[in-house]
Amino acid sequence: MHISILLVSLLGMGFIAAVFGFVVLNSGPRDEDFGGIAKRGYFIRLWWFIGLCAAGVLVSVWSLIPFPLQASSAESPRIIQAVGRQWSWELASNSVETGEPVRFRVTSQDVNHGFAIYGPDDKIVAQTQAMPGYFNDLDVTFEHAGKYRVLCLEYCGVAHHAMVAEIAVTEKH
Ligand code: CUA
Repeated sequence: MHISILLVSLLGMGFIAAVFGFVVLNSGPRDEDFGGIAKRGYFIRLWWFIGLCAAGVLVSVWSLIPFPLQASSAESPRIIQAVGRQWSWELASNSVETGEPVRFRVTSQDVNHGFAIYGPDDKIVAQTQAMPGYFNDLDVTFEHAGKYRVLCLEYCGVAHHAMVAEIAVTEKH
């Protein structure tokens, strides 16, 4: 191999190495290149943070609003105690007006009964369990006047069928 070829090769490799070195030395980040972007980045980060805080507060407040089912009605219902026993119903009141919100507070003195209200057309209006030791609330607002009946919906002994009470619903005046 000629010495001149070796020299040319070394010179060429040296030149390429020098170019690489120059690029490497001059490719580091310089503040003046990123100053604007960094400023914009901090600006976006700040407003993203404020936005998340605001969203968190809004969601928290929104979660405190009660669902419609939990919201109590504007008019508080009239409470009527209803007690079942073998084999009759005892209602604290047997007369109600149409449009009047009523809450039957249903319990039993002995065994489980089924407290069911039937309309004048013999269709069931509402029902709940009458259980000893428990009070079950049954909310009813009667829309039509007439003679309603309370029947027992759970077999409770020989005279189960005799558990009948009447509710007279009159037109609101
Ligand atoms: Cu009470 Cu059936």
